[in-house]
Amino acid sequence: MIKPIENMKDAFSLKGKNVIITGGNRGLGFGIASAMAQSGANIAIFCRDAAKAAEALNELKPYGTTCFSVSCDVTSLPSVRKAVAEAFDKFGSIDILVNNAGVSCTKSLLDMDEDLSDWYKVINTDLNGCVHMTYEVAKRMRDGGKGGSIINITSNAGFMVNHGQPMSPYSSAKAAMNHFTHCMACELAPYDIRVNGIAPGFTNSELSVHIPPDNLKRINQQAVAGRFGEPIEIGALAVYLASPAAAQVTGTVQVIDGGYMLRC
Ligand SMILES: NC(=O)c1ccc[n+]([C@@H]2O[C@H](COP(=O)([O-])OP(=O)(O)OC[C@H]3O[C@@H](n4cnc5c(N)ncnc54)[C@H](OP(=O)(O)O)[C@@H]3O)[C@@H](O)[C@H]2O)c1
Repeated sequence: MIKPIENMKDAFSLKGKNVIITGGNRGLGFGIASAMAQSGANIAIFCRDAAKAAEALNELKPYGTTCFSVSCDVTSLPSVRKAVAEAFDKFGSIDILVNNAGVSCTKSLLDMDEDLSDWYKVINTDLNGCVHMTYEVAKRMRDGGKGGSIINITSNAGFMVNHGQPMSPYSSAKAAMNHFTHCMACELAPYDIRVNGIAPGFTNSELSVHIPPDNLKRINQQAVAGRFGEPIEIGALAVYLASPAAAQVTGTVQVIDGGYMLRC
């Protein structure tokens, strides 16, 4: 059984925990890497762009924990298997997995090419990438016998249909990730592995810089907070969910969108 909080002093600490973050080299993933490293965790960044990973690792240096990157394409199960084995060899155990890597597509279904490659790219990265990583990492958490925490970065688009930009593959992948989170929380509970989701709203990153100005204005008016979120704010919620303070929290998807959905 997952242990309840022992003392508040250490309740939010990730000291000595080993974390894998997919897409931790930029955007929300880097915000999560930074927040977790500042909370004492060792970080393995899984991504494809090695130069961007080197920049991220440089920025994590001041926090003094063990941080490294591993080349990984989450759409490929063999790539994930090799990368997880490499991280496991370096860490010796894995305590926390953050499934953050994701891509979007803002075409309507009927505007897509005949091979539907846009659809498959998003589903293969966002949904299947999360499944590949969970499969490989949860096995090792189970076999290690120390439990663990898995956090899936979904989106408030998994709960609603956004105005202004069609994104059916993205919204569908995120909705499926939300329910995959519920299913995994039940399946992995016997091994003391907690599984939760974070559903951000619009947050500053490279994914959000392509939003047309008219749409930007409307988005900021719709969010009660009146602004985009920042990656470090998503990181703060991820630290909480991974920490002993959240020992009783599993099977949830936490919306962090500045109140955007209140006015939908
Ligand atoms: N920004 C927002 O407004 C927002 C809102 C809600 C949810 N989200 C979610 O937050 C997550 C991060 O988004 P972001 O805004 O930070 O996007 P971003 O800046 O475009 O970063 C995407 C990250 O995913 C990685 N990635 C993409 N495809 C990959 C693959 N096949 N294998 C491994 N890594 C891959 C990228 O690394 P490489 O290219 O180096 O592989 C990069 O680190 C996504 O799941 C997104 O859906 C974002």
